Amino acid sequence: MLITFEGIEGCGKTTQIALLHTYLEKKGLNVIKTREPGGTTFGETLRKVFLHTNMEVYPLSELLVFMAMRAQHVEELIQPALKEGKVVLCDRFIDASYAYQGYGRGVDLGIIETLNRLVTKGVRPNLTVLLDCSVENGLKRKAESADMDRFEKEELAFHNKIKKAYEKMSKADPKRFFVIDGSLDIDTIHRTIRKKVVALLKNYGI
Ligand code: TMP
Repeated sequence: MLITFEGIEGCGKTTQIALLHTYLEKKGLNVIKTREPGGTTFGETLRKVFLHTNMEVYPLSELLVFMAMRAQHVEELIQPALKEGKVVLCDRFIDASYAYQGYGRGVDLGIIETLNRLVTKGVRPNLTVLLDCSVENGLKRKAESADMDRFEKEELAFHNKIKKAYEKMSKADPKRFFVIDGSLDIDTIHRTIRKKVVALLKNYGI
């Protein structure tokens, strides 16, 4: 079972993954928490360089680096964990490439689709939790943290494109996407996600 979390900068998904992870662990489930970019030594090492570089990175180069990290992540960690029957919680996955490199940077969506298919080897999220919050609130939350990465430093128009992209994708695939108002309090959001996930696990006999 693969559950991914998506949303704009500062939407609160990292906090929610941590809460869900603790909850599922306490229930005795075999659950792991991972993230993109990152999740493997290769990915986490590249993440440090890539998110904080001042180098000029072209959209296609950016896409290919994220895809390289995803290929490593799927092969080394996600696919083996799924084969072992684990519940995998992943902070960003395939949809972030459409949102950021596709709708945000203008890379052809067909190219992203092809590359995603290649690197994920058919692995698809069973559920994608989308935390919906306003760009202003998200960026305000991020600005409070000391070191912003190069995506967080992008202008407002870029972040608005990302928000719209997630809205569009969630409407196109309502069975997979579970959209939650990220402006609600942390505990209410957690309980809503928890309910959804428990129902899904039950459906799968977990
Ligand atoms: P995070 O702040 O959620 O950890 O994600 C780091 C940044 O990486 C975030 O700004 C979105 C970006 N990103 C992409 O642009 N494309 C991708 O495919 C992924 C996984 C992340």
